Amino acid sequence: MSAIEQHGDETYGLVARLLHWLVVALVAAQFVLGWTMPEVHRDTQPVGLIAWHLALGAALIAAMAVRILWRLTHRPPPSDLPPLLSTVSRVTHFVLYAALIAVPVLGWANASSRGWSVKVVGALPLPALAASGSTVGHAMGDIHSALAWVLLVLIGMHVGAALLHRFVFKDNVLRRMM
Ligand code: HEM
Ligand code: HEM
Repeated sequence: MSAIEQHGDETYGLVARLLHWLVVALVAAQFVLGWTMPEVHRDTQPVGLIAWHLALGAALIAAMAVRILWRLTHRPPPSDLPPLLSTVSRVTHFVLYAALIAVPVLGWANASSRGWSVKVVGALPLPALAASGSTVGHAMGDIHSALAWVLLVLIGMHVGAALLHRFVFKDNVLRRMM
């Protein structure tokens, strides 16, 4: 078997795969909570579904921090896609990472501007990203909600590509992340 064919059998490492699917679960929960929780107004208290959105949000921020550190120190398995597809895939992944940072950070800044503390596993408080009552932090809530839609479109493209690889091209791209 040639070296290139052997490359085709490699998967992402166990930690990268666990982090990918943990982030998928947390992001899915954040969309459901974000859209089902009560609307947030000036005097809304962070309880119930809103408290869950903040708690899972903090877990997501922690998971993304670990994931980015891991990604910067561990290369993905070599890809045997044609150069153009490989570039498209790399650019999409980069933009996905950017949105996976921007959306949570904007939500976090918005929570800070409301004077809400964001705690990882209910214990480790993250520093406030915006002063309590800050109008900039407040505006970030709107950008957070708008960018969540952009993230959703990116995820749709990404999942569509994964399914295309699996069922149309019938290559091993999906297996790399399973
Ligand atoms: C990828 C992760 C996340 C997604 C997909 C997401 C999604 C959403 C959605 C859909 C809404 C409701 C928007 C609306 O209809 O008005 C929302 C609101 C909100 N989210 Fe997130 N969220 C995420 C992460 C976070 C994090 C990490 C925090 C804070 C730690 C956070 C804090 C908030 C707050 C405070 C609001 C209320 C904003 C406002 O109405 O002013 N979110 N989020
Ligand atoms: C919330 C939803 C999702 C997000 C945010 C997401 C994000 C990402 C990111 C950022 C990467 C790049 C990994 C890296 O190189 O470091 C990736 C890779 C990958 N994801 Fe997802 N993903 C999601 C859902 C899914 C789903 C549902 C599937 C399967 C149907 C999937 C299949 C894959 C595959 C196969 C790869 C590896 C692609 C390759 O080898 O080039 N992802 N994902």
